[in-house]
Amino acid sequence: MSKITLSVIKADVGGYVGHSASHPEVLAKAEVMLDAAKREGKLIDFSVLACGDDLELIMTHTHGTDAEVIHKLAWDTFVEGTEVAKKLKLYGAGQDLLADAFSGNVKGMGPGCAEMEFEERPSEPVIIFMADKTSPGAWNYPLYKIFADPFNTAGLVIDSSMHEGFTFVINDPMKNKRVKLNTPEEMYDLLALIGSHEQYVVDTVYRKDGFVAAKASTQKLALIAGKYVGKDDPVMIVRAQAGLPAVGEVLEPFSFPHVVSGWMRGSHNGPLMPVSFKQATPTRFDGPPRVIAAGFQLADGKLIGPRDMFDDPSYDRSRAIANEVADYLRRHGPFEPGRLPHGDMEYTTLPAVLEKLADRFS
Ligand code: F6R
Ligand code: MG
Ligand code: MG
Repeated sequence: MSKITLSVIKADVGGYVGHSASHPEVLAKAEVMLDAAKREGKLIDFSVLACGDDLELIMTHTHGTDAEVIHKLAWDTFVEGTEVAKKLKLYGAGQDLLADAFSGNVKGMGPGCAEMEFEERPSEPVIIFMADKTSPGAWNYPLYKIFADPFNTAGLVIDSSMHEGFTFVINDPMKNKRVKLNTPEEMYDLLALIGSHEQYVVDTVYRKDGFVAAKASTQKLALIAGKYVGKDDPVMIVRAQAGLPAVGEVLEPFSFPHVVSGWMRGSHNGPLMPVSFKQATPTRFDGPPRVIAAGFQLADGKLIGPRDMFDDPSYDRSRAIANEVADYLRRHGPFEPGRLPHGDMEYTTLPAVLEKLADRFS
């Protein structure tokens, strides 16, 4: 079989109610748009999901990554979704569409995007993670655990096809640079960078034979817009099994609700709570940040699924810990580290407030 491309493109085109969820009519519009594209032969298959106020388009096709036809389809779907959102006066209609018109690729225009092209294996399990109320650095911790931590992924020790380790591609979004690091040899260097999850974000993970294993969206809205316009709410694709981490090893890091940037006004630290599709509705203090996991088996590009992977009692404890941590962090109110550190506040609405005080200092 020839190569297929898996594209996950997402945007917040309007919230219901506030920034807490997506309206069924917006999702229905996206279904109609992508179904028409499938009939025209542009797509092999698709799945429309929502995480909080983000509309998630999962698409398979044969046009390769960064294909204009697919990016335009996603953009047009977001534009149509925005029209529905405007009609219902949903909150922040068209929030993530930062450009007036489409110009070739959604990257740099507001939507988040993770794509990979590969030859489908005899059986191809993939997990698509989608988060709300956080930024792309939220994937640094789980990607490290999945592909570099033998205490998480037994296969790194036991499976000879993974024993050589993986290569991480890390972006520096502020400087628009990237670096490749190999694990396990350069594991400490990797951690020295990706522990700073707002400065360095993992973009891609390869097996050392060049096999692409994971791809994350790394777009930062504030850097595109030059001001705070909502959090990036990233997505990532992880392939699993047969020489890659098993599905259970891919999901295991989320048994610990690690603290991420985002939550209320994109200005707070909060636990990343793994939830079912139904519970992907950040309400308390506009959060806490959520992550859903949609599992698919690919069959000649057809998306067999989604399976709602966190709809499972084995994640109840992680959710309970997340609620404890949420209580603890909330008690800080406007103080760090409940609120983000000063440097990260540069990308929020705080600078406009501080500006007014500038003359008062002597
Ligand atoms: C966080 C988020 C929300 C809003 C908050 C204020 O990513 O989207 O927490 O920042 O609800 O929203 P506005 O300023 O639109 O009233
Ligand atoms: Mg929103
Ligand atoms: Mg969102």
